[in-house]
Amino acid sequence: MGMLDGRSALVTGAARGNGAAIARLLAAEGAGVALVDIDGHEVVAEAARITDATGARTFGARVDVCHAADIEAAVAQAVDAFGRIDILVNNAGVLFDTPLPGLDMRLWEKTLAVNLTGPLRCIDAVVPELIKQGDGGAIVNITSIAASIGFDDYVAYCASKAGLMGVTRAAALALAPHRIRVNAVAPGIIDTDMTKGLYADPAAAAAIIERIPLGYIADPVEVAKAVLYLVSDLSTYVTGTELLVDAGYVVR
Ligand SMILES: NC(=O)c1ccc[n+]([C@@H]2O[C@H](COP(=O)([O-])OP(=O)(O)OC[C@H]3O[C@@H](n4cnc5c(N)ncnc54)[C@H](O)[C@@H]3O)[C@@H](O)[C@H]2O)c1
Repeated sequence: MGMLDGRSALVTGAARGNGAAIARLLAAEGAGVALVDIDGHEVVAEAARITDATGARTFGARVDVCHAADIEAAVAQAVDAFGRIDILVNNAGVLFDTPLPGLDMRLWEKTLAVNLTGPLRCIDAVVPELIKQGDGGAIVNITSIAASIGFDDYVAYCASKAGLMGVTRAAALALAPHRIRVNAVAPGIIDTDMTKGLYADPAAAAAIIERIPLGYIADPVEVAKAVLYLVSDLSTYVTGTELLVDAGYVVR
């Protein structure tokens, strides 16, 4: 028996990296999973791989989290496929170099649109369905250690993730009367396409690892395990919190 038998989840940015690992673990625990991503081709393939590996019901769909109509269509498709929706994981995200001074305003706007407004749009699309069903729900926003500490080349990313933590706290309060829990997972340095350029050079990799108290760059499954905790009945009294999955990076 899985921890999520009978439930269904929508995971954004699920074509690869953290999102794919999250979708795979939720599926392995019995959830039906709607995988959505702006990369429609790859997300459909990833959904098929997860079904092959776990036997879970999944589908993949092209969704740009900047477009409300895409999100609404995916929520409707999930309800149609699984009969209900219980879990939303706001994972889609982008990271651009945005050093100061001379901030590239197009990259600032793009970062906020995907990393901050996108999750808000997804919450807005899923919550009416959760309220209609009447038995609560769980939302997890993937933030970052960049919500807590500054990274000088990434001002837009830091702002977007700190903003998403603000959304997490406010939404937790607003949705508590409906027994919808809203939490954040804040990863440290995880080995995905987003970050691999940062440690491609062995000297850069050594410098990064030196800064990580547990001493390694993590596999995305570490993020997925934290998400599973927050969407399952292991965390029924937990809302409005940020779970750091960073090997001690922030507390150093
Ligand atoms: N990798 C890390 O070290 C790390 C650390 C902290 C937080 N995070 C966060 O984890 C999340 C996943 O990142 P990742 O590391 O797996 O990166 P990734 O680049 O491997 O995956 C991100 C996914 O989001 C998708 N995406 C981008 N824009 C989108 C849009 N507009 N609509 C829908 N999908 C879109 C991409 O196509 C991609 O599949 C992000 O929110 C990221 O900020 C990652």
